[in-house]
Amino acid sequence: MDEPAWSLGGRAGGGTIRIGILSRNSKLYSIRRLKRAASLQGHEVQFINLLRCSAYVDAGDHKVLYGNREVGPLEVLLPRIGTTVTQYGVTIVRHFEHSGVRVVNGSQAILNSRDKFHCLQLLAKQNVPVPRTILCRTTEDAVTAIANVGGPPVILKFLSGTQGIGVIIAESRESAESMLEALWHLGQEIQIQKFISESKGTDLRALVIGGEVVAAMRRSAVGGSFRSNIHRGAGGRSVELTEEEAGIAIAAAEGVGLKIAGVDMVESNSGPLVIEVNSSPGFEGLERATNRDIAGEIIAYAAAFGDE
Ligand SMILES: Nc1ncnc2c1ncn2[C@@H]1O[C@H](COP(=O)(O)OP(=O)(O)O)[C@@H](O)[C@H]1O
Ligand SMILES: [Mg+2]
Repeated sequence: MDEPAWSLGGRAGGGTIRIGILSRNSKLYSIRRLKRAASLQGHEVQFINLLRCSAYVDAGDHKVLYGNREVGPLEVLLPRIGTTVTQYGVTIVRHFEHSGVRVVNGSQAILNSRDKFHCLQLLAKQNVPVPRTILCRTTEDAVTAIANVGGPPVILKFLSGTQGIGVIIAESRESAESMLEALWHLGQEIQIQKFISESKGTDLRALVIGGEVVAAMRRSAVGGSFRSNIHRGAGGRSVELTEEEAGIAIAAAEGVGLKIAGVDMVESNSGPLVIEVNSSPGFEGLERATNRDIAGEIIAYAAAFGDE
């Protein structure tokens, strides 16, 4: 039988952990920062190009191939999976898990958070506050749903998406209906969500690592937009979360099973509401806003996790 392309056993010794960072692009800010932080902390770090990984199965055999090279051994894998490659990324992450590598975040947790409605289903079930959100499939039911979420205006949201792309505001019932019909026709499922107008184009981003809030910022949209994504030009300022906000962020991360999570919350009149939980949160804006070594915190956690 073929030798596995990855030898997964053994220890580097001396407190050194062999960390693999699984991503598509080694030039991204987050990947460069994570590699540097791992080296600074004395770990062995390897960038693993997701698209060069092949998942190999045969009866009684199961391995990840990386081009034609052998990579490893490896104690812990840190997946940083972009939203355009979720399915492939999750499959490869699962393959690593089956090969006995410790993975943070795990494949199921990534999947739980990637589908935003699935994420809200899990959170609501566990009593984590979320904006009222309805998924339906006919215009008749959409009319009821729009009324049910207090609109218009209402938020229409794709089930997956990032950087504010796929989040729409519909100012009238007619525009909501016509957009829904067009998007359904294209095969898209769309959530109808209460528009939290009192958040006034701001939101809170909390980074949760291992059940603790490590850093948080308030982001404010620019140019009259309601979307406060850093990629849409929003500015971020460091904030100290209230106990309530921190507790909700931690419960949200735990609720979807993520050890490392970027939790987005809007501040409503009835308190903070979780709108999404990110499994590969970018942290350039957060490092800038807070002056914290977020990459170092992620690596320290991953190394300890790999050493368990
Ligand atoms: N229900 C809502 N009410 C008010 N603003 C919202 C609502 N949902 C999203 N937003 C705004 O849009 C931004 C993007 O929404 P989000 O669900 O986080 O999607 P993405 O994955 O694209 O970041 C949020 O950061 C927030 O500023
Ligand atoms: Mg967001």
